[in-house]
Amino acid sequence: MKKIRKAIFPVGGLGTRFLPATKAMPKEMLPVVDKPIIQYAVEEAWAAGIEECIFVTGRGKSAIEDHFDYSYELQDTLHKRGKSEFLEKVRSCTPKAGQMAYIRQQEALGLGHAVWCARNLIGDEPFAVLLADDMVMADRSCLQQMIEAYEKVGGNIVALEDVPRARTGSYGIVTPKKQTGNLVTASSIVEKPEPEEAPSTLAVIGRYILQPEIFDFLEEKQIGAGGEIQLTDAIAKIIKTQPFHGLLFEGQRFDCGNQLGFLEANIAFALQRPDLKAGMQGFLDKY
Ligand code: UTP
Repeated sequence: MKKIRKAIFPVGGLGTRFLPATKAMPKEMLPVVDKPIIQYAVEEAWAAGIEECIFVTGRGKSAIEDHFDYSYELQDTLHKRGKSEFLEKVRSCTPKAGQMAYIRQQEALGLGHAVWCARNLIGDEPFAVLLADDMVMADRSCLQQMIEAYEKVGGNIVALEDVPRARTGSYGIVTPKKQTGNLVTASSIVEKPEPEEAPSTLAVIGRYILQPEIFDFLEEKQIGAGGEIQLTDAIAKIIKTQPFHGLLFEGQRFDCGNQLGFLEANIAFALQRPDLKAGMQGFLDKY
């Protein structure tokens, strides 16, 4: 079984639900407490042993590249002023040289298209996909849990969350065949089904482990839900030829792609911080 060494971070979307904040700034740079959401995703990948991060970006997303770059002037100034605590924070998000690659998705044609854009950088090996706007608070990171499951069953794995039936229209939903512990064997997947048509309430969240053959199906560039090239549609095809599992991960997910989920993440992550907990609790009591 080939090790998962590479991860794709699709960050080419327009982030329309966060306009005007995302007019000149990438959605993925919105901070939860004091860290951009993309940094949480990258740290999750690093913690799970990922060696190469591939960002699929678009116009107006260069702040992401700058964020993970060496910042000479800032670091030099912090060093000279003896601000070692801040210097450490800046250093912590600088990868090893050559560990990050950036490729442009020239048009935001959908998540499936964004993943397809990274095909030449992935080559012939299994890989992870992380959507930064799905944040997971967990003792063992969500991707780590998925890689542990992958080492047992191989194939393709998605992270699953049981959602209220009224919400199925916002997710890819799987048809479960069998469940062993928290691992679900699924026979099909459908993107954004209406609640009355959804095969279950098991929703795919933004973490995937995929085999490289997925690119053959993405190559077809099938237009799916919302007029976009959907990753779910390619997964629906690969399921017919390869093992496919969903992992009911341990942890709490925050959908930072919409305002309420983003605000909730800020509160929950602030309450985890010893330096902010009491102050945040005070605000919650006040309001
Ligand atoms: P979303 O569905 O949240 O789309 O994409 P979005 O454009 O970011 O946000 P809204 O819906 O307009 O508010 C989920 C993930 O897929 C990426 C996004 O950057 C996000 O990380 N994506 C989406 C792409 O990289 N390219 C696309 O064409 C679409």
